[in-house]
Amino acid sequence: MAEKPIIITIGTLKGGPGKTTEVFNLSALLAEKHPVLAVDADPQFNLTANMRVNVMGKGIKTIKNVFEGGYTAEEVIYKSPIPELPNLDIIPSSIELIATELNIVNLAGREHIFNNFILDNWEYLKRYKYIIIDTNPNLGMINQNVLFSSDHVILVSSISLNSIMGAELFIALWTGIRQRLRKLDNVAALALNNYDGRAKKDLKELLEYIDEKEDLRDILLKTIIPTSAEIKRTETRRRPINLLGGKKAVREAKAVFFDVIADLKERGIL
Ligand SMILES: Nc1ncnc2c1ncn2[C@@H]1O[C@H](COP(=O)(O)OP(=O)(O)OP(=O)(O)O)[C@@H](O)[C@H]1O
Ligand SMILES: [Mg+2]
Repeated sequence: MAEKPIIITIGTLKGGPGKTTEVFNLSALLAEKHPVLAVDADPQFNLTANMRVNVMGKGIKTIKNVFEGGYTAEEVIYKSPIPELPNLDIIPSSIELIATELNIVNLAGREHIFNNFILDNWEYLKRYKYIIIDTNPNLGMINQNVLFSSDHVILVSSISLNSIMGAELFIALWTGIRQRLRKLDNVAALALNNYDGRAKKDLKELLEYIDEKEDLRDILLKTIIPTSAEIKRTETRRRPINLLGGKKAVREAKAVFFDVIADLKERGIL
C-alpha cells in the first residue's frame, strides 16, 4: 500500500504575509520529484489564479463542490494546470466559497466535511505524496475543516510585530478549537517571509520577540525568506520560481525555497 499523503496547511490570522506565495512555490518545487495536490481553500482564489485555472471554464469543479458534497476527488481535481509540472494538480477555489461557508455552519458534523472527503476518496488521494492547502486569514468553518485534517500547519509571518501577532493569535484560537475537536497539536512551523535586507534592526527586534515566546521559538524555521523581485514575479507572471528561467536572481530565490524545504524535512514535516 502507498504511504499516506502528508497534509499540510499554510495559515495565519494576518492578511498578506505570503501564504499563497509559499504554497505556490513549495508545491511547484516539490512536484519536480513527487505527486503533489495543491488545494485552494481561500475564496480570494489567488492560488487558483497563479496556476492559471479559469473556474468559469465548462465543467470545472472547485473546493465549493467538496464542501457541498456529491463529487469525488477525481471530479474536483484539476489535473496538471502547469504543463511543465505534470505531477502538480489542484483543487481550485472561487468567490462562491463565501456562500458555501455560510451554508455549512449549521450542519451536523460541520468540522469534519473535508476530512470525510479525504477518507471517502482515499483510494484516489493516496497517489499524492503531499497535499498542500492555502487558506485565508480567518478561523471560519472552511479553515477549521482543513486544519482538522492536516498533519502539519505552517504559519507565515512577515517581518512585523502585527504579522507575528497574527501567528500568535492563530495558535491561541486554533488551540481552543482543536482541543474541542480532540485534535493533537499540529502547528509545526513558522516561516518568516519578506525580509528586506535593509531592515536588520526590525529583524533583530522580531527575533528577540519570538525568542521570548516558547510556542513561536520552538517552531521557527532557520531560513528567512527575503523580499525578492523574482518571488514577486511568481505572482505577476503566474509562474512558479522553478519555471522563471535561469537568471542568477531566480536561482538565488529558488535556493531559498530549497532551504525552506530542507528545514521542513529536518523537522519531519516533509
Ligand atoms: N518574499 C517575497 N518577496 C516579494 N514579494 C512577495 C514575497 N512574498 C510575498 N510577496 C508578495 O506579497 C503579496 C502578498 O503575498 P501573498 O498573496 O502570498 O500573501 P497571502 O498571505 O496569501 O495573502 P492573503 O492573506 O490575502 O491570502 C503578493 O503580491 C506577493 O507576490
Ligand atoms: Mg493568499
